[in-house]
Amino acid sequence: MTTATVSGAYPFLAEGGLGAEGIFIGRDVHAEAAFCYDPFSLYNSGRVDGFTNPNAVLAGIIGMGKSALAKSLATRAIAHGYRVYVPCDPKGEWTVVAQALGGHSIALGPGLPGRMNPLDAPARPTSVPERAWLTEIRKRRLLLLAGLTRTVLKRDLLPVEHTALDLALDLVVADAEAHGAVPLLGEVADVLGSSRRLDQALGDHAGRMGSAAEDLAHALRRLVHGDLSGMFDAPSTVAFDPTAPMLSIDLSRLGGTGDDTALVLAMTCASAWMESALADPASGKRWVIYDEAWRVMRHIALLERMQSQWKLSRGLGIANLMVFHRLSDLLSAGDAGSRGRVLAEGLLADCSTRIIYRQEPDQLGAAASLLGLSGVETRAVSALTKGRGLWKVAGRSFVTQHLLHPEEKALFDTDARMSP
Ligand SMILES: Nc1ncnc2c1ncn2[C@@H]1O[C@H](COP(=O)(O)OP(=O)(O)OP(=O)(O)O)[C@@H](O)[C@H]1O
Ligand SMILES: [Mg+2]
Repeated sequence: MTTATVSGAYPFLAEGGLGAEGIFIGRDVHAEAAFCYDPFSLYNSGRVDGFTNPNAVLAGIIGMGKSALAKSLATRAIAHGYRVYVPCDPKGEWTVVAQALGGHSIALGPGLPGRMNPLDAPARPTSVPERAWLTEIRKRRLLLLAGLTRTVLKRDLLPVEHTALDLALDLVVADAEAHGAVPLLGEVADVLGSSRRLDQALGDHAGRMGSAAEDLAHALRRLVHGDLSGMFDAPSTVAFDPTAPMLSIDLSRLGGTGDDTALVLAMTCASAWMESALADPASGKRWVIYDEAWRVMRHIALLERMQSQWKLSRGLGIANLMVFHRLSDLLSAGDAGSRGRVLAEGLLADCSTRIIYRQEPDQLGAAASLLGLSGVETRAVSALTKGRGLWKVAGRSFVTQHLLHPEEKALFDTDARMSP
């Protein structure tokens, strides 16, 4: 370089960082400074242009420290007055963290005593009027039923099937109210399976409604009589404690890999149960962490539920963190332009914070185009080591080394299972 160039490219410049507000994450590798982060203070202060929402996505290959970062965020956020929710923990690795922080974990699986009724109606927040709350609960229940049946049937529901779900739900809720009981999935399946009741409810003398609901009844049977029987089809044995700092739902004992459908159904029920309990805007700032979210990316029903939840979350004071491996997990939701892809890309667009840990070389192109990485950033991502990530916070970029406290390291260790 000539001296003329050098004087132009003054080398002693570094990003000023996001300021000292928020949770300490670690070291900003280029600025050699502490790196702190708090999505709500960034969102409220307007310090970063284009920071339009508190949600974050975290992607990286296996074992690079994604869960460790998410757990540090959780641990440290609790010290800042946040509450933390992990609606589905397929590896069961959040239980120790929740317990160590004074929270709870609920384990679900065959033979375990925990029961969770996803049709539970949570207590109405004082700020929401009665009517609006009833409408909200009904909407959530319908979304849940549509999501579950869609996942099992692996296809979009027909308009007549949506109507059948609508009717069946109303019948079951009216019955439950008359008996002072709670509506259950099994009852919805029964009504769907009984063409007479549906046809009566609609006054459809040609009997078309009942036969249209048969597929739905079969789909719901999996939750009632199939491999998930008992878990989500009984009154809840667990209560949501809004004062606990943390709650995780451990799904590691569901067993069976191969077919992800059982896990996806369980995740749908567990997150529906938890999300409706989080609908109180007066509950303060909260993180909802979807670790291992890549497992659900292919399931449009879950993406749909996530999207509608995320739309609400900002107003409720909720920041969502979604963790996956490759950016292309997002693309697996469907072909370009398909509903699944549009939903997945919409979720990504709803994340003002993108944290990229190391990616496989063949993934760099996809990552760069999805996230709009520059050439320098793309090269940086290919060389990241454990705990080190490229943080894209709206338009700004940082390479940050996440620093673990020794006690956190002991608590978060996922390698222990591998050692003798
Ligand atoms: N910043 C860090 N400094 C030191 N050790 C770390 C750091 N981050 C993670 N580790 C250690 O690396 C191991 C793997 O981390 P972690 O389980 O978080 O990876 P992961 O990316 O979530 O993997 P997977 O994709 O399999 O879920 C853990 O035992 C953890 O203690
Ligand atoms: Mg992990």
